[in-house]
Amino acid sequence: MGKHILLLGAPGAGKGTQSKRLASEFDLEHVTTGDALRANKDMDISDMDFEYDTPREYMESGDLVPDDVVNEIVKTALQEADGYVLDGYPRNIEQAEYLTEITDLDAVLYLDVSEEELVERLTGRRVCDDCGANYHVEFAPPEEDGVCDECGGELIQRDDDTEETVRERLTVYHKNTEPVVNHYRDEGVLVEIDGEQTPDGVFDDVAEVVEDA
Ligand code: AP5
Repeated sequence: MGKHILLLGAPGAGKGTQSKRLASEFDLEHVTTGDALRANKDMDISDMDFEYDTPREYMESGDLVPDDVVNEIVKTALQEADGYVLDGYPRNIEQAEYLTEITDLDAVLYLDVSEEELVERLTGRRVCDDCGANYHVEFAPPEEDGVCDECGGELIQRDDDTEETVRERLTVYHKNTEPVVNHYRDEGVLVEIDGEQTPDGVFDDVAEVVEDA
């Protein structure tokens, strides 16, 4: 059976960067609520009686999409995966409790990155509009400005990577998601990784944990 890996970290900690590589090198499914929601931003959730009628409004204001919407996405994705690396979930204690009900975990990793570095990474991030490849204007620039090295697609800034929304996402993270990190730490299962190394350096540490899981 494939491994069940959970990757935690603040917005911009490098979860997406590391998850993609882990998924490819360990033959795991990359289950990411952020990408799933971005692909379904305009899904009609008006019948669920929430504040907004689509995920878009929550995401563009930096807020969390309601649990009922996200839990369903995760449940389906995990049921379909043999092994997985889960990125972007759980983001509050209720989601963490739900996750415990639907699956078991072989390793829980936390990428530790300072707030100052997070803001710099997120406001400088560019993503390919076609294939989703990730760049940074300073730390991981493409060969040609604004063009994806992998598929030639256009590089864009995510709607929620403006400085104002980044600050709000970090506030939401401190309030809702830090308690999740503490929950796994208290359970004694959290493996903390220095997320401020180079991407390769972070990957070496992460891979070592996953190999032994
Ligand atoms: P989501 O897409 O999950 O965003 P996030 O958690 O805020 O994380 P990011 O994708 O921004 O960052 P990352 O840690 O993946 O970093 P990355 O590798 O890209 O969620 C977006 C929104 O969806 C949420 O705000 C919410 O509204 C909604 N949502 C999602 N999940 C939800 C849930 N469970 N419940 C409710 N709502 C939910 O790296 C960032 C940048 O840094 C890149 O430019 C990269 O090149 C660079 N970089 C990476 N590693 C390094 C390194 N080691 N050194 C230097 N630069 C680096």
